Amino acid sequence: MAVLTGSGISSESGLPTFRGAGGLWRTHRVEQLASPEGFERDPRLVWTWYNERRAAHHQAQPNAGHDALAQMQDLFGDFTLITQNVDSLHLRAGSRRVLELHGNLREARCTGCAARRSLEDGMPMDAIDHACGGRFRPDIVWFGEPLPQDVWHAAMEASMRADVMLVVGTSGMVYPAAALATEFCGEAFVVEINPEETALSHAVDVTLRGSAATVLPELLARLRS
Ligand code: OAD
Repeated sequence: MAVLTGSGISSESGLPTFRGAGGLWRTHRVEQLASPEGFERDPRLVWTWYNERRAAHHQAQPNAGHDALAQMQDLFGDFTLITQNVDSLHLRAGSRRVLELHGNLREARCTGCAARRSLEDGMPMDAIDHACGGRFRPDIVWFGEPLPQDVWHAAMEASMRADVMLVVGTSGMVYPAAALATEFCGEAFVVEINPEETALSHAVDVTLRGSAATVLPELLARLRS
C-alpha cells in the first residue's frame, strides 16, 4: 500500500491549503516566499513567513485522518506514506515510514556549508547569516528546485510496487509529486479521497468524495472488519 497526501489532509487540523478558498497561494506571492530568488532578495521576509507557518504547525494537532493512516500502517507489511506536506503532522500522529517529498520545517540548512540547525524555537533573524558566509534557509523544496533524489526514488519505488494507492487531499497540480498517482503507480488500484474534483480525478480508479478526517477512519474500520 502507498499513500500520497497533500495539504487537504491537514485542513481539518486548522492549517490552510495552498489553492483552495483561503489557500496560501491565493493571498501570498509564491515567488517572493517559496523560491531561491525570493530568499536571495529578502531572507528576513521569507523567514518571517516560515516562522509563522512553523508556529501554526506546532499548535495544530493531527486529526482523525492522520491518525487513521498511522493505524493503517500496521495492517500492511509494505506501507509507505508519501507526503507533500511540511507540517510534520504524519510523524506526530505516529506514522513511521514517511517520505517528505517537499522537505520539512523541523530544521534549517546552510546554503554554504550544509550545516543544520533546529527550528524548535523558530529562526532568529540575527542567526540567518552563517559564519561560513552562507545563510540558513528552510529545509524545504521551493519552486524551480529538484526534489531530494533519495526521497523521490524511494517514493517512486513504493508507488510502483503498490497494489493500492490512496491519494488524499491534494489538487494534483504540482509535479513531479502528482505523477506518483498517474505514471509511476504501476498496476496499483488508485483511490482518491477528496471533497472536490481535482486534476487527478479523471485518472484514478475510484474517488471517495469526502473529507480525509471522515473517509479515512471509515476506510480503516472496513479494512479491519
Ligand atoms: P492544494 O491547495 O493545491 O490542494 C489541496 C487539496 O485538498 C484540494 O484538492 C482540496 O479539495 C483538498 N481538500 C481540502 N480539504 C480537504 C479535506 N478536509 N480532506 C481531503 N481533502 C481536502 O494543496 P497541495 O495539493 O498539497 O509545495 O499542493 C501541492 C504543493 O503545492 C504543496 O506541497 C506546496 C504547494 O506549492 C511546495 O511548497 C513545494
